[in-house]
Amino acid sequence: MKWRTGKEIRKEFIDFWVSRGSRHYPSFSLIPDDPTLLFTIAGMVPFKPYYLGIMKPEVTRAVTSQKCVRTNDIDNVGRTARHHTFFEMLGNFSWGDYFKYEAITWAWEFLTDVIGLDGSRLYATIYKDDEEAYSVWRNTVGLPDERIYRFDKDENFWFMGNQGPCGPCSEILYDQGPSFSCGRPECRVGCNCDRYLEIWNLVFTQFDLQKDGTLLPLPKNNIDTGMGLERLTSIVQGVRTDFETDLFRPIIDHVCSSAGIVYGASQKSDLAARVISDHLRSVAFMIADGILPANDGQGYVLRRLLRRAARYGKLIGFDRPFLLDFLPDVISIMEDPYVELCDNRMTIEQIIDVEEKRFLRTLQQGTELLDAEIATLRGQGRNEIPGDVAFELYDTYGFPFELTLEIAQEQSMTVDKPGFDRAMEEQRARARASSKHVKSEFTGDVYSAILNAEGNTEFLGYDRSEIASPVLAIVNKGERLDSLEKGMKGEIVLKKTVFYAEKGGQIGDTGFLNGPDSVLEVVDTIVQHGSLTVHKVKVLDGVLRTGETVSGSVNVDRRDAIRKNHTATHLLHEALGRVLGGHVRQAGSLVSEKSLRFDFTHFDAMTQKQIEEVETIVNERIQANTSLEVTESDMEHARGMGAKALFEEKYGDVVRVVQIPGFSMELCGGLHVDATGDIGVFKILREESVGSGTRRITAVTGMEAFSAFQRVSRVNARVSGLLSASEEGIDTAVEALIEHSKELERRLEEAKLKAATSSIESKAKSVSVGSVTLWVGRFDDTDADLLRELGDSVKQKTERSVVLFASAHGEDVLLVAMADQSAVDAGANAGTLVKKLASMVGGKGGGRPNMAQAGGRDPSKIGALLDAAPSVLSEILGG
Ligand code: ALA
Repeated sequence: MKWRTGKEIRKEFIDFWVSRGSRHYPSFSLIPDDPTLLFTIAGMVPFKPYYLGIMKPEVTRAVTSQKCVRTNDIDNVGRTARHHTFFEMLGNFSWGDYFKYEAITWAWEFLTDVIGLDGSRLYATIYKDDEEAYSVWRNTVGLPDERIYRFDKDENFWFMGNQGPCGPCSEILYDQGPSFSCGRPECRVGCNCDRYLEIWNLVFTQFDLQKDGTLLPLPKNNIDTGMGLERLTSIVQGVRTDFETDLFRPIIDHVCSSAGIVYGASQKSDLAARVISDHLRSVAFMIADGILPANDGQGYVLRRLLRRAARYGKLIGFDRPFLLDFLPDVISIMEDPYVELCDNRMTIEQIIDVEEKRFLRTLQQGTELLDAEIATLRGQGRNEIPGDVAFELYDTYGFPFELTLEIAQEQSMTVDKPGFDRAMEEQRARARASSKHVKSEFTGDVYSAILNAEGNTEFLGYDRSEIASPVLAIVNKGERLDSLEKGMKGEIVLKKTVFYAEKGGQIGDTGFLNGPDSVLEVVDTIVQHGSLTVHKVKVLDGVLRTGETVSGSVNVDRRDAIRKNHTATHLLHEALGRVLGGHVRQAGSLVSEKSLRFDFTHFDAMTQKQIEEVETIVNERIQANTSLEVTESDMEHARGMGAKALFEEKYGDVVRVVQIPGFSMELCGGLHVDATGDIGVFKILREESVGSGTRRITAVTGMEAFSAFQRVSRVNARVSGLLSASEEGIDTAVEALIEHSKELERRLEEAKLKAATSSIESKAKSVSVGSVTLWVGRFDDTDADLLRELGDSVKQKTERSVVLFASAHGEDVLLVAMADQSAVDAGANAGTLVKKLASMVGGKGGGRPNMAQAGGRDPSKIGALLDAAPSVLSEILGG
């Protein structure tokens, strides 16, 4: 078998299936267009609607090498030869086209003729009574009986969820030879060890699993296959694990040489190098696809992988941020075909940089926490760190258990491992429960049936705001109805519409539908399954029936305000890039009639100067009154022209390119003004942080901006009136006012001190207690600072002074005790004195021997407390 690179194998796979009439789609995003999945976990995910029959495919044969992320086996990554969080799935797909015969014989041809695997080392598994697959393997391929294994549902039936398309599958395995075997006598096909390696899963998607568990045949037979590129590459390159292939090895070698370790020398450091290389691949691809670190969802997974990589680095001796050193290795291995890594290189670098540094600080805090915990445990005479503490460190601070163990060992402590495992298992059970929940939501619904029967809604709202259209469907609480009456709420699907459905950050249109016998208010418009427009309505009068023709009219004033904000968002996007730099990337937006919100990647708060620069650029462009140019194109061509694209568009989609000539170009399906001058004026209201490395701008345009200016000048006028200053002089006048009020505060404090000091003679009494002098006194409505100052002044009057002053303020009591050094030397202790007396006023407190303080809640007892002070002090002095 000829040695070749992972890249060559990827290409050979694609070329092979293209030569079998398949359309090659470049990998789809890691972010699936599917709320039930966090990540793209298999090659078929982007095609799910075709299997479900919700959408009609544009071709019937396809091939991909799909980027996938799976984190359910994260603890195995690096420990086994095959687990990864990021991998590529080679897959060929057929929708109602070729089936078992071609899927099996072509797969065989690819593996033996193209790749050159030795056919005598290949095995097949089939679903136990799939005679059709058996016959192809046995009679066409000619595989002997002893190399065809039959397994039941658990092994050889592939389900996408607990409902929907599914089917029996046939797996192809490669015998790597006895040196890969677990060595058990029963080791054979089906064993979990690496000898009989599963390389390709061919799924014959021919059934539709019903809610009640029955399998209905699908109208068409489909094929879905998956083969791990890393796995196949390891066989071709004759290495023991995926990590030794050219897809990983350069990263690992670089990590090892930087850390001064030798790959293969120790299991522990090999594990760290593998984890770092695996996680860094995931991190780079996730950020390239638009994921940003967050505390939940995809962003949480990203953060966790990044932290996990960073802390494994610590285990092999990196004591500084290091991940960025190896990013160039990931990029140079993967940039062809994954151009997104280069396109987003700056963003990837910035996010890794900020997150890793931040994590190292957290790690530092966690270490301090652990040290404190160890000190407390020691104080209690214990020498084992409880499992839940170790787990909290793991969960909250990202401490690997081994790190806790190491620190504990250095301090001669042990860690409760079973307790840690229990806490971990509980968390896993919680995670499992929630992931089950997600899967069970995967159901067809009323809208997929409507879409199936009626097709996409035609949208004609780009240049019109009124239309007549037949009513295709009426939905109420998830069920289809024939009619909707006055007072009822429901959802309407039309054949064609001018109502824009919420998408791409732009909110949905509102307006009215008028039927022959009815008037309906459209309160919102949303999209279902990507292409079905759903009008949420309230019937104001009469009855609407399916099949009737309605005339729809959009609330034009509201829409105009939305259009202004949408175009302003494009201007803002471009202006931010110009002012802040090329790393600025859209992270989300919300365009409504009131305002626009724009989230973007940037790491510091914007300065006032930057905000003004951005406002100026946008407003200059508005003044230029440039006409917009909107064209349709395919995704590839649009990107080639340099259009900014978000992550929602798919390859092959027809996209709209919105150009503000000479300024910006973006892919966008939303509604825009005809010329920038229509926006009127643009004003930023706020700039704030919304999480690590993401900032948010809220801004307004048109009349809303005008109102914002009016608000500001109203406030200015009022403030300048109050200050009797001109508007230009407001800031100077406010500064003077603040200065003045500080001066008054200072004088007030002085006056208070003076008044209290002058009353000190009458209010503070001294008594001799043994060899020391005790000063007691009550100064109501006096704060702790002042009490201390008073104490200082009486303390100096005598030798060996102890002071106990009380103050009542409403229901609150404050006690301050002080002792000078000679009194402390004589055995006095302010802390003990306060502690003993505080309970008399219902409080507690304490402090050092020379200074202590307490609070209490019973002012009526202050007299008795001061009376008791001499005898308590005497006790303390041992008299
Ligand atoms: N969808 C199938 C899998 O993930 C091919 O194994």
